[in-house]
Amino acid sequence: MNSDKLSSVAKAIVAKQKGVLAADESNPTIKKRFDSIKVESTEENRRRYREILFSTQGIERYIGGVILFDETLRQGTREGIPFAELLSSRGIIPGIKVDKGSKSLALCPDEQITEGLDGLRERLVEYKQMGARFAKWRAVIKIKERDVPTSFGIRANAHVLARYAALCQELDIVPIVEPEVLMDGAHDIERCEAVTSRVLEAVFTELDAHHVLFEGMLLKPNMVIAGLKSTRQENVQRVAEATIRCLARYTPAAVPGIIFLSGGQSPEDATDHLNAINMMGPHPWQVSFSYGRALQAPVLASWNGREDNLAVAQKTFHKRCRLNGLAREGKYARVMETTE
Ligand code: 13P
Repeated sequence: MNSDKLSSVAKAIVAKQKGVLAADESNPTIKKRFDSIKVESTEENRRRYREILFSTQGIERYIGGVILFDETLRQGTREGIPFAELLSSRGIIPGIKVDKGSKSLALCPDEQITEGLDGLRERLVEYKQMGARFAKWRAVIKIKERDVPTSFGIRANAHVLARYAALCQELDIVPIVEPEVLMDGAHDIERCEAVTSRVLEAVFTELDAHHVLFEGMLLKPNMVIAGLKSTRQENVQRVAEATIRCLARYTPAAVPGIIFLSGGQSPEDATDHLNAINMMGPHPWQVSFSYGRALQAPVLASWNGREDNLAVAQKTFHKRCRLNGLAREGKYARVMETTE
């Protein structure tokens, strides 16, 4: 393990103004996104859509890394330039989602475990040869009635995340460790904070036990927020305070960056929350974004599968990147959504 290399890549991904574009939707997930705009999910349509994102001029100021899906890492531009090469040439670091999705955790009704450890070392070797310098693995924690998640369910997911992170670092690939407490459900913000706290505590205990170098990884957590079906939604400031209180208690200062997932928030809310969190800084870690839907939903709607919408789709994408780049510095204001 080359500690200096790992920590310099991790820091570069979250350099000033920068965050991550999560464009690593698996084929079933991108199909759902395409269905919403009535575009068929063919290999060429998926390639073309990702090409539109990656070739948008000027995003390199705000995007330090892009997470790709296996198929996308093997694809390239119309002219035949591999996407990993295109991104690298623009100073954007290519990364790869390496988990194989979540399945139900045997004998634990209502809980999930992420698969993909078998053969991971060999897959990482190939991904590295193809240009990936960081990876992502998502664990899914669902909040249900009083006793879900169980402490066993949390520990099982934390263990798998740590096994993945250690395999990455063995090959000098920066692991993004993503324990996602889902926003589905009607729970209040206090319950989200309690569960997220237990999850982070378990994750860092396991990472430490597996000798994972905190300086050479990034944490991708959920924000602390009431469930989307909760009747008590909190204001932006309350979300920022609960999120930072929770992260400050359980995330070691040695971790260079915290990059939030958006998890079903509207693009504007995700940006606003990130901004409020950064306005409470400075924090011990860089605090930025690793958004999928919050960066892409408006782009998909503008593109609509039509070549003649290319310019407007790229303009929409650039705007979301720029506004999140500002929020990542605490310099965003909601009014910019309409004045830009
Ligand atoms: P969302 O921002 O859409 O939650 O996606 C981020 C991600 O990469 C989930 O694994």
